[in-house]
Amino acid sequence: MSAIPFDIAATDGAARTGALVFPRGEVRTPAFMPVGTAATVKAMYASQVRETGADVVLGNVYHLMLRPGAERVAELGGLHRFMGWPHPILTDSGGFQVMSLASLRKLDKDGVTFRSHVDGSTHRLTPERSVEIQRLLGSDVTMQLDECVRLPAERAEVERAMRLSIDWAERCKVAFGTPEGRALFGIVQGGDQADLRRASARGLVDIGFDGYAVGGLAVGEPQDVMLAMLEETIPELPAGRPRYLMGVGSPDDLLKSIARGVDMFDCVMPTRAGRHGQVFTRFGRLNLKNARHADDPRPIDEESACPAARDYSRAYLHHLVKTGEILGMMLLTWVNLDYYQRLMEGARAAIRAGTFEAYAADTTAGWARGG
Ligand code: GUN
Repeated sequence: MSAIPFDIAATDGAARTGALVFPRGEVRTPAFMPVGTAATVKAMYASQVRETGADVVLGNVYHLMLRPGAERVAELGGLHRFMGWPHPILTDSGGFQVMSLASLRKLDKDGVTFRSHVDGSTHRLTPERSVEIQRLLGSDVTMQLDECVRLPAERAEVERAMRLSIDWAERCKVAFGTPEGRALFGIVQGGDQADLRRASARGLVDIGFDGYAVGGLAVGEPQDVMLAMLEETIPELPAGRPRYLMGVGSPDDLLKSIARGVDMFDCVMPTRAGRHGQVFTRFGRLNLKNARHADDPRPIDEESACPAARDYSRAYLHHLVKTGEILGMMLLTWVNLDYYQRLMEGARAAIRAGTFEAYAADTTAGWARGG
């Protein structure tokens, strides 16, 4: 039995809606987790992130071990208190940085040594140390240390990383133990190779985790390959446990993945796009940098309940973005996180009503209409 109940309230085709129940609160699924890499969801107050409807945010082992340091966070009462977010936190293990910081690390069977991108100092991550850092941070969901591979890649390389990740999964499981009220997730690897994906999923299920992530996707492959890999992987995972697609994605990726049985997502897309002048809306993407907004008195979406989308003219937002004002980043990040949470809220309601397919089709048609 897992320490963390996952109650599935309704299914609609392969899509499911329910809740993961943590001592710090429920995570309603399908869930989008805003990324708070360095103990902050960039350009947002924690209270504002909550008001958009987020139940959980993500933190990163790699960044937090460099600055301010996991032991320091622990002495200050843990990551929740440190960042003023009393709700669940999922921490990523450092496995993504094995890929994204490939030039700054050395990998061996036992772990990975990073050269800090901040000051050049060296930091060792093993499966055991990654789990320990996540315990020090006070994470509600600990992710196993894994090796994420950028695509395209040679099959032999994908297979080596997948097998290493299974070995590390086992070590993480031992190191994690059975702490009350905390979850440990394994991470499926296997690149764009269907049989390796299935083998990875089976290996993790044999070890046994509270939840299963699908990693190593949205790393350079087209969307149809990502969806095909999900279709290979998900049938191998236990129906009663949450499934988390890591680092994904666009609103379209989210709807297509929910339809295939994914319960949780995280991505920098809404926050990063907001800092670069781009917003996601019910009528598609807008680039506020574009000169066509300079004289437009309309808000982004007069029907939105989000003040950032409703109460400021496109002309004003265009001005803030063009002049590089901090408020522009704050408002557009808010618009995007609100939109992503409304998308998840709509998905949950549609799955309960048995109308997810129509919801996805209507939502997609709205993006094409423009506004
Ligand atoms: N974030 C996005 N993809 C991955 C992955 O494959 N592994 C980890 N640890 N984090 C990710």
